[in-house]
Amino acid sequence: MTTKAENIENWIRNRKSTFVNGLKKGSKIDDSIVEKLLENASWAPSHGLVQAWNFKVFTGDAVKRFFSVQQKIYKEITPADKYMDFKYEAYSEKHERVSHIIAVIAQRDKYKRFPKQEDVASVACAVENMYLSLQAYDIAGYLSTGGICYSQQMRDFLELGTEDEPIGFFILGEADESVQRPPRMRIPVAEKTEWIRE
Ligand SMILES: Cc1cc2nc3c(=O)[nH]c(=O)nc-3n(C[C@H](O)[C@H](O)[C@H](O)COP(=O)(O)O)c2cc1C
Repeated sequence: MTTKAENIENWIRNRKSTFVNGLKKGSKIDDSIVEKLLENASWAPSHGLVQAWNFKVFTGDAVKRFFSVQQKIYKEITPADKYMDFKYEAYSEKHERVSHIIAVIAQRDKYKRFPKQEDVASVACAVENMYLSLQAYDIAGYLSTGGICYSQQMRDFLELGTEDEPIGFFILGEADESVQRPPRMRIPVAEKTEWIRE
């Protein structure tokens, strides 16, 4: 029998990102599973129970539409010396492997009870809950961010308020088990830790 400690260690350490190329073509997840993921997300901690998370879920034809918006923004905001045709073209195919996209937003608490970074931190906890849940429902995905996500064009598309922050896009699909990812690594936590005892 696995102990509680082994249980949580397994859940946390087996959590992983599966990128678009690691998703199956024609991936289809039931909306009810995505609802569970969102429900689990909403059990994240938040200071004063502000619950700043807000989600916009794209599925069906809206997935293709979402990637074509990203493609358009890529063209608009990428400087000529960084622009790559293959990246632009790739946006046309992503929808084939993606079932749902959850735009994760930190919606600023209207009373501004706590610093904005706390709203953002709580939404990051909600993202981790989603990440952890993937294994339970046998689905796959990852959080995607980057310049397009933070662009004014994307803010307009998502109809964000001026104080809201886009946290990222949780891309979801079914894993293509034939695609191998290099082993996931971590810097030993001791290198990131200082113990203060007196
Ligand atoms: C805040 C945040 C932003 C991320 N943005 C991207 C991204 O834009 N593109 C990407 O490929 N992965 C992104 N990821 C996923 C990371 O690439 C991934 O977590 C990392 O490679 C470690 O892999 P693992 O999640 O399997 O442990 C992001 C993750 C986080 C937490």
